[in-house]
Amino acid sequence: MCFYFPEYIYQHFLKIRKYSGDAFKLEEVVKQDFINISKPLTYKGIFAFHKYWGKKPIETTSFFIENFTNPGDIVLDPFLGSGLICRECVENDRSFIGIDLNPFAIEHAKLILDLPTLNEYKIAFELLKEQVCEEINRSYTGSDNLVRSHYLWDDQELKQVWRKNRGRKVILEPNAHDYALAASFNDYQITNFREATFFNNSRINSTSGLKMHDLFTGRALRNIDILIEAINDFPRYLQRALMLTLTSAVGQMSNMVFAITDRGKNGNGSLNEIEVGSWVIGFWRPKLHFEINVWNCFENRAKKFIKTLSLIQQRKIRFTENIGQYFSSEFDALLIQDDCLKVMNSIPTDSIKLISTDPPHGDRIPYLELSEVWNSILNKKVDFDSEIVISDAKNRNKKKANYIEEMKNFIREAGRVLRPDGVVIKVIP
Ligand SMILES: C[S@@+](CC[C@H](N)C(=O)[O-])C[C@H]1O[C@@H](n2cnc3c(N)ncnc32)[C@H](O)[C@@H]1O
Repeated sequence: MCFYFPEYIYQHFLKIRKYSGDAFKLEEVVKQDFINISKPLTYKGIFAFHKYWGKKPIETTSFFIENFTNPGDIVLDPFLGSGLICRECVENDRSFIGIDLNPFAIEHAKLILDLPTLNEYKIAFELLKEQVCEEINRSYTGSDNLVRSHYLWDDQELKQVWRKNRGRKVILEPNAHDYALAASFNDYQITNFREATFFNNSRINSTSGLKMHDLFTGRALRNIDILIEAINDFPRYLQRALMLTLTSAVGQMSNMVFAITDRGKNGNGSLNEIEVGSWVIGFWRPKLHFEINVWNCFENRAKKFIKTLSLIQQRKIRFTENIGQYFSSEFDALLIQDDCLKVMNSIPTDSIKLISTDPPHGDRIPYLELSEVWNSILNKKVDFDSEIVISDAKNRNKKKANYIEEMKNFIREAGRVLRPDGVVIKVIP
């Protein structure tokens, strides 16, 4: 990690009407403390619960909050992402405004602010287990009536079937029953979530014709549907926690889980020492891949979340999604899912003490395209047009020139909403 003002941003920053000497102070402090904040600890607890593209360590943000704001000040992150900063702010008695265009990002930030208690989540998980576990496991039951944990597919051919025996892996030869059971879900039609939208983007291995059925087996989609249907019956805040448990597990439920083998570079070696890889980024579907039991994936993540909740001190946080309400009464936080350029227009002039943000950068990470599986499962509509990004997906028309123009608009608005003693921090990897 490093912290700097890229030249074009720095030049604009200098022109900002409300510019104060604090920026110079910042450069000195950053130099002094560079070593500490450039070697942050690994992500832990709630910060490690869900993957997000370009997630930044919280230590750096905490440093800026502590050094550039006082209790009661307002901190703004208009490109919120995973939203880790929001909890950090309210726990330090700073008021917080978070904006992101990505529906997933705002759902995740709401979860971080509105966590269920350990007990509430545990009870919800047990209830859910009672409702769906048996039905899901039936779709993985072999001819011996025992439940399978993993299937190793080489394209359409089943290479291995695994089951667990007292926590130990047992490798089985695939049989006709395994093939027939898998095939019986091939035409499954999803009902509780929407089909995903993809673009031709070779950088992330997607094409406009890609469908959820290409990324998941019919069996996995059907089991995800079963989970969502049951989750929908829970109160809203528990629904969110359970749905995000599901999205955090969904990569491992997909056909994008590669197998780590000792086959060597040409892929001809043995399959003796095989390990389960993970979904990393993008939509690459390896020929040799695992299909993992959907319930097991969900349960693993839920257990991780239970552990996380057991270490968190509960605190009632008052947040709203209404900007008028936020500025007219006592709220700890405002979270808005929309285009930040639009939302920032409604933020009063001279109101923000610190803008600490990590805007989209370069063409490596098309956030909305990458988040599409999560947003599809969450059944959220996505405004691809308003994304500030450079994308290799040609028909999105997201070029560098537009990006620079939009960032200039952002910097102009940042100058307006900042207090005369306000500070802007731009974090980039
Ligand atoms: C680099 S990421 C932020 C990552 C974040 N710092 C974290 O730790 O997770 C940039 C974010 O900008 C969001 N974004 C892109 N265009 C936007 C827009 N017009 N308005 C608001 N957010 C936008 C993306 O959805 C993405 O979450």
